[in-house]
Amino acid sequence: MPPVITTVDDLHALYRRRVPRMFYDYCQSGSWTEQTFRENETDFDLIRLRQRVAVDMEGRSVAGTMIGREVTMPVALAPVGLTGMQYADGEILAARAAEAFGVPFTLSTMSICSIEDVAEHTTKPFWFQLYVMKDEDFVDRLIERARAAGCDALVLTLDLQILGQRHKDLKNGLSAPPKLTPASIANLATKVRWGMGMARTKRRFFGNIVGHAKGVGDASSLSSWTAEQFDPRLDWDKIRRIKDKWGGKLILKGILDAEDARMALQVGADAIVVSNHGGRQLDGALSSIRMLPEIVDAVGDRVEVHMDGGIRSGQDVLKALALGAKGTYIGRAFVYGLGAMGQQGVTHALEVIRKELDTTMALCGEKDIHDLGPHNLLVPRGFRGDWEPAAPPR
Ligand SMILES: Cc1cc2nc3c(=O)[nH]c(=O)nc-3n(C[C@H](O)[C@H](O)[C@H](O)COP(=O)(O)O)c2cc1C
Repeated sequence: MPPVITTVDDLHALYRRRVPRMFYDYCQSGSWTEQTFRENETDFDLIRLRQRVAVDMEGRSVAGTMIGREVTMPVALAPVGLTGMQYADGEILAARAAEAFGVPFTLSTMSICSIEDVAEHTTKPFWFQLYVMKDEDFVDRLIERARAAGCDALVLTLDLQILGQRHKDLKNGLSAPPKLTPASIANLATKVRWGMGMARTKRRFFGNIVGHAKGVGDASSLSSWTAEQFDPRLDWDKIRRIKDKWGGKLILKGILDAEDARMALQVGADAIVVSNHGGRQLDGALSSIRMLPEIVDAVGDRVEVHMDGGIRSGQDVLKALALGAKGTYIGRAFVYGLGAMGQQGVTHALEVIRKELDTTMALCGEKDIHDLGPHNLLVPRGFRGDWEPAAPPR
């Protein structure tokens, strides 16, 4: 009998069994002590919901828009590097699941399937996430390729000029494709389903990079390649240059501070994503959900504020929307589904989330996600935190 999936956790359990340890660990970790990674999830649990009754519940809708695009629910798939190592042809499968469901798919610069490959195997535009590299010419060509492939938004990630350290990736020797060592061979041998998929596909390298970036020797090791190629000098002037070069809808991802949100506004972003990269970059930063209200207060009336980090259920989505987000993204939640069951698993993750969102909304006494607001939540006193800068800004 096929497994009955009722939660994203069910997908996580299957995913853990079916995918090689190296790629499971790559997904299921945060940087250093993983405090921020953990709190992205646990801070959602601090927020409770206000139950309301005797409200006509017929004709509910969770549909909305994200930067003008109609979505069946405001939950996009976040850019996730190496998705095609979690399951053969992973980016194509996830993009197809998102397309069929009616939510945006975001392709990472560090994907296994290339921009062109995903475009060829889908029918609707997807979003392209850009990392800024030192090689401007390569960045320009990536932008051109995204445009040529019909991508209708550029998601520029700002919180990864250098790579936060995840201990497990170093210990596992993370690479794409995996390097064969006695330990990795022993583990791979137990992942038959994964191995059969990988044996059938040719897509096993960084598709946007290998064969496109000049002078790139070994791109298989993510950490050394990132250290070599990513541009540590990325600043607001460069962001403006990229905005002009792209000329289309621009989403700035990785904003976790109201000051930076105001800068993003000045640059003319169409949306910002309140994000700490799923707790993978600055360990010790506050969770996304805790920072969201302050950023919404600062810029929410002038730019669309999205958020990601720690979303594992439709209830989490509802909490983010009620605190002022106009859109959300799931990273790990869709990867669990993909690694567990391919395209069908991503669809499961989206379905579970939509059902939870819809039911929760109804039991909170709302019929339309646009009506959600802080009035639907109970937050502990001081949820925003009794935090303050240790000294006035310089
Ligand atoms: C395995 C993994 C790889 C990621 N790769 C990228 C990436 O290539 N580009 C990017 O902008 N964000 C990347 N992220 C961050 C996600 O886009 C997103 O911000 C994060 O996963 C949200 O948190 P969640 O996983 O708790 O939903 C990655 C996250 C994970 C878990």
